[in-house]
Amino acid sequence: MPAMDMNVCHDGVIDEQDIAHYAARAAGGTGMVITSASAVAFPVGATSLKEPGLSDDRFIPGLRALADAVHRAGSLLCVQATHHGKVARIDVAQGRPMLVPSTPIVDRDLEALRDNTAEELTRMAAVSGGMKSTYREATEEDLAWVIDQFAQAARRIMEAGADAIEVHCAHGYLLGGFLSRADNRRTDRWGGSLENRARLVCETIKAVRAEVGDRLAILVRVAGQEFGEEGSLTTEETVRAARLMEAAGADAIHVTAWGRNAFRDFTKGPLPNQVAAYRDYARQVKAAVGIPVIAVGRMLPEVAEDTLASGDADFVAMGRQLLADPDLVNKIRAGRRESVRPCINCYVCVEQNFWDDTPVCAVNPALADEGKAVLLQVTSPRHVVVVGGGPAGMETARVSRERGHRVTLVEAGDRLGGSAWFSQLTTPANGPLLDWQKHELERLGVVVLLGHRATPESLADLRADAVVVATGAHRGLPPVPGAALPHVQTGDTLRALLTGADGAVGATRTMRWAARAGRITGLTRNPKLIARATRTILPVGKHVVVIGGSLVGLELAEFMAERGKSVTVLESGPQLGLPMAMPRRWEAVRQTGQHGVTLLRNAVVEEITPSTVRYRHQDGVAAAPADLVVVASEVEAAAPLAKQLADRGIPVDVVGDASDVGYIQGAIHSAWRVANTL
Ligand SMILES: Cc1cc2nc3c(=O)[nH]c(=O)nc-3n(C[C@H](O)[C@H](O)[C@H](O)COP(=O)(O)O)c2cc1C
Ligand code: SF4
Repeated sequence: MPAMDMNVCHDGVIDEQDIAHYAARAAGGTGMVITSASAVAFPVGATSLKEPGLSDDRFIPGLRALADAVHRAGSLLCVQATHHGKVARIDVAQGRPMLVPSTPIVDRDLEALRDNTAEELTRMAAVSGGMKSTYREATEEDLAWVIDQFAQAARRIMEAGADAIEVHCAHGYLLGGFLSRADNRRTDRWGGSLENRARLVCETIKAVRAEVGDRLAILVRVAGQEFGEEGSLTTEETVRAARLMEAAGADAIHVTAWGRNAFRDFTKGPLPNQVAAYRDYARQVKAAVGIPVIAVGRMLPEVAEDTLASGDADFVAMGRQLLADPDLVNKIRAGRRESVRPCINCYVCVEQNFWDDTPVCAVNPALADEGKAVLLQVTSPRHVVVVGGGPAGMETARVSRERGHRVTLVEAGDRLGGSAWFSQLTTPANGPLLDWQKHELERLGVVVLLGHRATPESLADLRADAVVVATGAHRGLPPVPGAALPHVQTGDTLRALLTGADGAVGATRTMRWAARAGRITGLTRNPKLIARATRTILPVGKHVVVIGGSLVGLELAEFMAERGKSVTVLESGPQLGLPMAMPRRWEAVRQTGQHGVTLLRNAVVEEITPSTVRYRHQDGVAAAPADLVVVASEVEAAAPLAKQLADRGIPVDVVGDASDVGYIQGAIHSAWRVANTL
C-alpha cells in the first residue's frame, strides 16, 4: 500500500485512528503498508499539522504502536519521510519561507479554479492561514540540516520498530524539486547536471544508511516522469537517477509520476485516471537497476499480476483500491476477486487533502472510522424490503443482509443499477461497482424481483417488516416554453431510449426506431456495446444542447461530442462540473472543452424552439442550434412512494438520491447509515 495522507494526527502524533486504518489494511493481507508522508523536520517543512511528525523523540511511541499493530496483523511497516519544500503549507501559515532549490518563477495556469466555489477556495486558502507564500533558496547549511533531519527521522523510525523508510523524492517536495530541472536552476554542486541534481537525495540515502545500517530498508519514491511544464523530469533522467540512488545505497525504487500543475494535471499524476499508468516507467527503471522496483498507478489486480509476471516490476502498490477495500489482498488470495469492492476513480478521497481534511471514500463509508466496518448482527431478523435497484438500494440490501435480515429488493426496471447503469456509458469505472453489488447480493442470497413496480399494496403482499425506498431522483424539465417538444429529453427518458426501456417518450421517430432495434438485438443490455454502437449510429441530429453543466451534464456532453455531435452546454450557475470532486471536475471541464464542446457558464435558458435553445448570458440573448436537447438540470430528491407508505402508518426510510441528491457517494453512505439502523 503506497503512502496516502490520512490527516488524523494531533500535532504530528500518530494515534488510534491512524493505527486502526493501517492495521485494517495489514490484516487484509497487504504485504507492506507505507504510511502517509511524514515530515522529517515537523512542523518545519510540513504541509499539515495532522501529518505524522518525525522530528522529535516524542513521536516514537505513536510510531511504535503503529509498527506493533501492523506487525501483529502480519504485515510490514514502511514510513514515508519527506520535507515538503514548496508545498509546505505550515511554513506559510507559521510565517516561514518555504525551502526550495530555486525561487519558483512559473506562471501557473489557474484557469481550473474558476470552477471552484467560493467556499472551496476559502477552505484551501485557510490551510496556509490565508498568508502569501515566500521562499528561501537552500544554502549549504540548510542542506546539511535537511540531510541530518532525514537521518534522525530514520533513527526514530528504526527505534519504533518499523521495517523501512521511504525517502520521498517526487511530487514537487524538496528532494524531488532538487532532481527536476524545472525547479532547480542552481549553478552550484546541487544543480545543473543530473548528478548534481540527484546529489541531495543520494547524500540523504547515504546519511540514512550510516544512521540505521541494515536495520531499515531504504526505499526511494521518484517520478518516472513529470508532466506539463518546461524542464519536467523525463523518464530517461529518472532511469539515470535511479542508478545513482542504487549506488548510494537504496534498497528499492518506487516509481510514481507527477503532474506539475495540480490544478491542471493532477489526474495524470500523482493520481492517474489511466489503468497501469506508470507501468512503463517502472519497466524502464527496472531494466537499469539491480534492486527491486515497485510499480504504482491504478494497478488493478489483473494488470498488477501481469506486471509482476512479465517482470516489469518486482512489487505493485495499490492505493485507492485499498482505501475502497482493506481486504483486497485476502479476498484475491481466497479466489474471491469478485467480492473486492472496487475503487471507482472518483477522486472524492483526495479532494479532502486540498483543504487538509481526512479522506472520505465514496464507496467505503468506514474509511478513517474502522469501527464502522464491523456490521452489528441483528438479534431478531426482520424482512426488509428495498424498493429500487440502484447503488443505494443495492447497498441497503447488502448491508441489511450482512447484518442478518431477510431481504427482498424490488426494481421496476428490467435490470439492476438504476441511473448508475446508464452512467457507465460515460464513466466506465462505475460499472465494476455495480457488478460488485450484484455479485454480493447473489452471494448473500438477497431475493431480487425485477419488473416489480412497488405500491403500498404490493409491499403489503410481500409482508415487509421494514421498507426502504431508494427510487432515485426526479428529473424534470425546465419551466420554459418549448420544454415539452419531442426532441427534449431528460436523463431518464434518454436512458430509457438508449437502454430500450419503457419511458422512452417524446423522442423523434428515428430515435424510437433505433431504441427498438437495440432492444430486439439485445444490444441495449450491454453498456460497452451501446458505447461502441452509438459511435456508428446515434440518430439524434448534429446539434445537441445540454442544459445543466453539472457532473451528468458534462459527461453527457463529452459522450455526444465523442460521437461527432456539435454540443453546447448551458449552465445557469457560475461553475461547471459541480459536484464532481475537484481534480476530476477540472479534468472533465478541460476534456469536454478539448472535445470541442462550447461551455457556457451563467447562461440561463429562456425558450426551447424546434431547432434552437434561446438563452440569456452576460452578452445578452443568444441562441444555440439544437436537434436534441438534453436536460441535465432540474434534478431533485423525491420519494412519492415513501409518502404514501408513511400516510398509511407504515414505517419507511428513504436513501440515495430519493432522499438527497448525492450521486454514488451519497447513495452508498446514506444506504450504509440507514441499513445499520434496521
Ligand atoms: C488520499 C491520497 C493521499 C495521498 N498522499 C500521498 C502521500 O502522502 N505521499 C505520496 O507519495 N503519495 C500520496 N498519494 C499517492 C499514492 O501514494 C499513489 O501513488 C496514487 O494514489 C496512485 O496509486 P493508486 O492509483 O493505486 O491510487 C496519495 C493518494 C491518495 C488517494
Ligand atoms: S473516494 Fe473514489 S477514488 Fe477514492 S478510493 Fe474511494 S472510490 Fe476510489
